[in-house]
Amino acid sequence: MNRTYIRDLKDHIGKEISISGWVDIRRDHGKLIFIDIRDMTGKVQTVALPNNIGAHEAAGKVRPEWVVHATGMVNKRPDKMISKNKETGEIEPNGEIELELKKLEILNEAETPPFDVRSEGLDISEEVRLKYRYLDLRRPRMQNNIRNRDKIISFFRDYMHKNNFVEIETPIMMRGTPEGSREYVIPSRLENGKFYVLPQSPQQFKQLSMVAGFEKYFQIARCFRDEDTRGDRQPEFTQLDYEMSFVTQEDVLKYTETMFINLIRTLYPGKSITTIPFPRLTHGECLKKYGSDKPDMRKDKSNLNELAFAWVTDFPMFEKNEDGTLAAAHHPFCSIKEEDVEKFMSGKDLLSIRANSYDLVLNGYELSSGSIRIHKAEMQKKVFEYLGISPEEQITKFGHMLEAFRYGTPPHGGFAPGIDRIVMILQNEPNIREVIAFAKTGEGKDLMMGAPSDVSEKQLRELGLVEKK
Ligand code: AMO
Repeated sequence: MNRTYIRDLKDHIGKEISISGWVDIRRDHGKLIFIDIRDMTGKVQTVALPNNIGAHEAAGKVRPEWVVHATGMVNKRPDKMISKNKETGEIEPNGEIELELKKLEILNEAETPPFDVRSEGLDISEEVRLKYRYLDLRRPRMQNNIRNRDKIISFFRDYMHKNNFVEIETPIMMRGTPEGSREYVIPSRLENGKFYVLPQSPQQFKQLSMVAGFEKYFQIARCFRDEDTRGDRQPEFTQLDYEMSFVTQEDVLKYTETMFINLIRTLYPGKSITTIPFPRLTHGECLKKYGSDKPDMRKDKSNLNELAFAWVTDFPMFEKNEDGTLAAAHHPFCSIKEEDVEKFMSGKDLLSIRANSYDLVLNGYELSSGSIRIHKAEMQKKVFEYLGISPEEQITKFGHMLEAFRYGTPPHGGFAPGIDRIVMILQNEPNIREVIAFAKTGEGKDLMMGAPSDVSEKQLRELGLVEKK
């Protein structure tokens, strides 16, 4: 289709061109009909004059959200007709031009949408917005969120590549991981009664990539956790997952801090970072001072353009389950702080043992967690033992890790900032659903596609989930 992007029209004043897009709004003044047309690059006012009968007739018919291909002359608007932003007084994009329609082709009609796609949309029921997400995403705020999400991801990818990281895709169908959350399971057809699980994170694969000698791994990784959702949690979400060999905790913190400062300066220059270098607190200090391990350290808590990053370090290695047994506070692969190794080996006072683990906190949210890992089998086995995992179970569940540690595993550590939370904060949004294109509800439902859903009796039989006839 011969088309010019609406953003570029100002370079074609006095020329006849064609544009494609959606009718944003139509103002019918009888003789003159004005139609704002939008495409992915912007919006422009078009006008149908009565002397051009074909275009005028079509313009009389179209309604918001109809899809059109329009041909016309790009005219400069008279000075007094220049369109300016009511609040700032600035000339709007394409405010100085107008397209005088010569031809208006209707490519497709549209029913009246269930809600206004031009508003911010925050006052519309979220259930309806999620059911008609493809329409909800048309609103400029959502377009902006998703396009800026792409810019952030693309910044991270470039930054990682510039620093010699290699992106490795790790499996989505895998064996269970002990990362604390409930897993989503996939029944196996070829081996009835056996299951894959979806990764809570690529933790084990990224560590095994270090054993494999990649030294610097990263991935824009989709993770899955079957937990109750909240404003900052979804059943599936995305991490900027990375791992490095031959590094200390200081190396990971420095690399990460520089990357985030660069991200803000490049993509959000209007935002200010409260303190550089980012303040550092131990987990103990943080709880004592703020009563939370993710404090909001902004000077002005109502200022959305203030970014208060902070490091929280030295998390406990273990915590107690409700039934009194021990669990890994983060995950069982974190290494133990040098000062606590002796105590750890003796098995005494395990709840006081600290790990080489660290979180990055931003404006009251946990943005990321990571640690320097265990890279020796004996140490890893000891952690499993304290967690009540029997030697047999260690072999069946983690044999691959313990075995890999026998073949020259370098010291390594990493981090995994949650992309959804980063985008939410940088886009000044109240929850991560506003920055995930096809988000799920609080109950983990996809209202648009209707998932989860029934599957056929035949599928259940093949999967061995109902008795075979
Ligand atoms: P962790 O479990 O702390 O660490 O997750 C890291 C970051 O991922 C984000 N996140 C989520 N975002 C949205 N919805 C969720 N349900 C959700 N769960 C987690 C958060 C969180 O800080 N493998 C380790 C990392 C490591 O040790 O390197 C891990 O996944 O921003």
